Amino acid sequence: MILQETMELNNGVSIPKLGLGTWLMEDAEAERAVIDAVKIGYRHIDTAQAYGNEAGVGRGVRACGVPREDLFVVSKVAAEHKDYDSAAQSIDQTLSTMGLDYLDMMIIHSPQPWMDVNQSDDRFFEGNVEAYRALEDALRAGKLRAIGVSNFQQGDLENILANCSVVPQVNQVLCHVGNTPLHLIEFDNDHNIVTEAYSPVAHGAILDNSTVAAIADKYNVSVPQLCIRYCLQLDCVTLPKTSNPAHMATNAEVDFVISPEDMSALESVGAIDYGDASAFPVYGGKL
Ligand SMILES: NC(=O)c1ccc[n+]([C@@H]2O[C@H](COP(=O)([O-])OP(=O)(O)OC[C@H]3O[C@@H](n4cnc5c(N)ncnc54)[C@H](OP(=O)(O)O)[C@@H]3O)[C@@H](O)[C@H]2O)c1
Repeated sequence: MILQETMELNNGVSIPKLGLGTWLMEDAEAERAVIDAVKIGYRHIDTAQAYGNEAGVGRGVRACGVPREDLFVVSKVAAEHKDYDSAAQSIDQTLSTMGLDYLDMMIIHSPQPWMDVNQSDDRFFEGNVEAYRALEDALRAGKLRAIGVSNFQQGDLENILANCSVVPQVNQVLCHVGNTPLHLIEFDNDHNIVTEAYSPVAHGAILDNSTVAAIADKYNVSVPQLCIRYCLQLDCVTLPKTSNPAHMATNAEVDFVISPEDMSALESVGAIDYGDASAFPVYGGKL
């Protein structure tokens, strides 16, 4: 049962393979979603300073009835914090906003501030080292159990590996059928960095893709189930988002195996049209 499966991070900490995403949920919705998800068996929750729902997620974590140490709670240092002091202060602010003594993991949300994503070639190497040092210090101080990065390409990771002392525990990246960053996953694997797949259901844009639906039919599963299973079989921690308890439950029913042939077919699916969501920098848009 996937909800009970974990992976070991490079510092020995266990991370549940399936987590609940909370992007675009407001506080009250996020609080409810955390409580519902934990009831279903989820133990891993993904939020971010930028989502504006850390307070709601924190309330859900405190109210869900499962001991804190049995949960894996993650937030992200906002992409705009590219100096040590603002990153360090933001980590303390996250703990206080969430009402938690520690987080299981915090990661740098993006190597570039969102304003610069798809706009500029500046990869903010110095700023990312500064922000990452704040994460390292919070790790040493016991405020965090693991640290990592998100949206980092190989060069961004090489900068951290060359200039920081803790190898990132994870790299959280856009990964779904139609957008599989195989080279980056391989680079992560070679450096003992777990890849986390965000938007595993392509932000909902893949739901009516007929090629993917035909493969899902073969396995008698839904498109979201096939897409989630696909990311898990790439050895990625997988983070589907939903606030619908029925979807939470079926998204965790993925104990089937996609054949190597169908994995290859899914790898070859062409780019997905994200529709209105294309305006978000993570899907190619510019702020
Ligand atoms: N690090 C980053 O920069 C970054 C960027 C994007 C996302 N993320 C993380 O990854 C998480 C997931 O990504 P995402 O939010 O973009 O999208 P996603 O999980 O790929 O897709 C979410 C969409 O799919 C729908 N959905 C989910 N399960 C379904 C089901 N079983 N049946 C029908 N519809 C279903 C949801 O609607 P319903 O709510 O109606 O179920 C929602 O519209 C985020 O919440 C966030 O935690 C991180």
